[in-house]
Amino acid sequence: MAVGSRLRHVVESQQFSRALLEELFVRSEEMKREPHHFIGRLAGQVMAALFYEPSTRTRLSFEAAMLRLGGTTMGTDNAREFSSAAKGETLEDTIRIVSGYADVIVVRHKEEGAAKRAAAVSAVPIINAGDGPGQHPTQALLDLYTIRDELSKIDGVRVAMVGDLANGRTVRSLTYLLSKFKDIKLWFVAPPQVAMGDDLKAHLDEHHVPWVETEDLNAVLPDVDVVYMTRIQKERFTDPEAYNAVKGVYRMDKASMTLMRKYAILMHPLPRVDEIAPEVDEDPRAAYFRQARNGLHIRMALLDKLLS
Ligand code: CP
Repeated sequence: MAVGSRLRHVVESQQFSRALLEELFVRSEEMKREPHHFIGRLAGQVMAALFYEPSTRTRLSFEAAMLRLGGTTMGTDNAREFSSAAKGETLEDTIRIVSGYADVIVVRHKEEGAAKRAAAVSAVPIINAGDGPGQHPTQALLDLYTIRDELSKIDGVRVAMVGDLANGRTVRSLTYLLSKFKDIKLWFVAPPQVAMGDDLKAHLDEHHVPWVETEDLNAVLPDVDVVYMTRIQKERFTDPEAYNAVKGVYRMDKASMTLMRKYAILMHPLPRVDEIAPEVDEDPRAAYFRQARNGLHIRMALLDKLLS
C-alpha cells in the first residue's frame, strides 16, 4: 500500500518506511510552526468520517486537520446505529457508496481487519482510525512524533508499554513503528491475562529488537526514557470477572513519578480512566496532553500527503 514515498491507503504501521516517517514529521513541524502557509491546500476536497466506535481525539483532530487545510468534512458518529449498518448494510457496501461522495474516508470499526476490507473496495484512500484490537496507525504516527519532539531522538530510546497490551491497538501500532529504528529496547509491563501478543514478539525477534516482559512496573521505571501507559479496555472483555481481575492494576501517581528518570516522559494515548492520577498532570514529564495536540499536525501532514 506504500510504494516508495507514495501512499494510497493507511491501514497498518508496517506500511511506513523511515523515509516516509521523516517526511511526515518534517511536514508536521512546518504545519505546527507556520499553519497560515497551508490554508486552502485541500480546498474543494471532502473527508468522510465513519466512526462505528466512540472517539474524541481521533475524530475531532482529523476534522480539525481537514478544516484547517481548507477542506470540508462529513460523517457519522455511532455509525452502527446512525448509518445504514443499522439496516444490515455491509461495511463494504457503505464504503463503495461513500467513496463516491468523498475524497478520503477515515474509518473506526470494532472489528480487526475492517480497514483492510474497506481499502479493498474503496475508490478513494482509506485511513484506519482504529480497527478493534488490531491497529491504530495514525495514533502511532503522533506517538512517534511526540517521542522525537520531546527527546530529540528515536534511535536508542528505551520504552515501557504498560497496561492492556493484548487489546491495545495503539501499543501494537507503535511497536511496529519502533521496530524500524536502531538500538530500541522495549519493556512490556502487563498482567499475563492482557500480555502483548505473540505476533508482535515474533516480529521484534525477527527484527532483532530486544524486549522484556514483566509485571513489575516500579522495577522498570528507572530504566526507561518513555513510559507509555494504556487503559484496561473494559469494552473488549466479554467476562466482567476477567475485567475486574485486571482493572486498576497499574497507576502512576506522584510517588511513582519519583522513580522515573529526570528527562523521561510519560505518555498515554488517552482517554485515561484511573491509570494516571490527575496530580501527575503538572509534572513537566507528563507529555500526554502535548501528545494529543500533536495529533492535529500529524493528521494535517498525512491528509496533505494523501490528497495534494
Ligand atoms: N487516542 C484515541 O484514539 O482517542 P479517541 O478514542 O478519543 O479517538
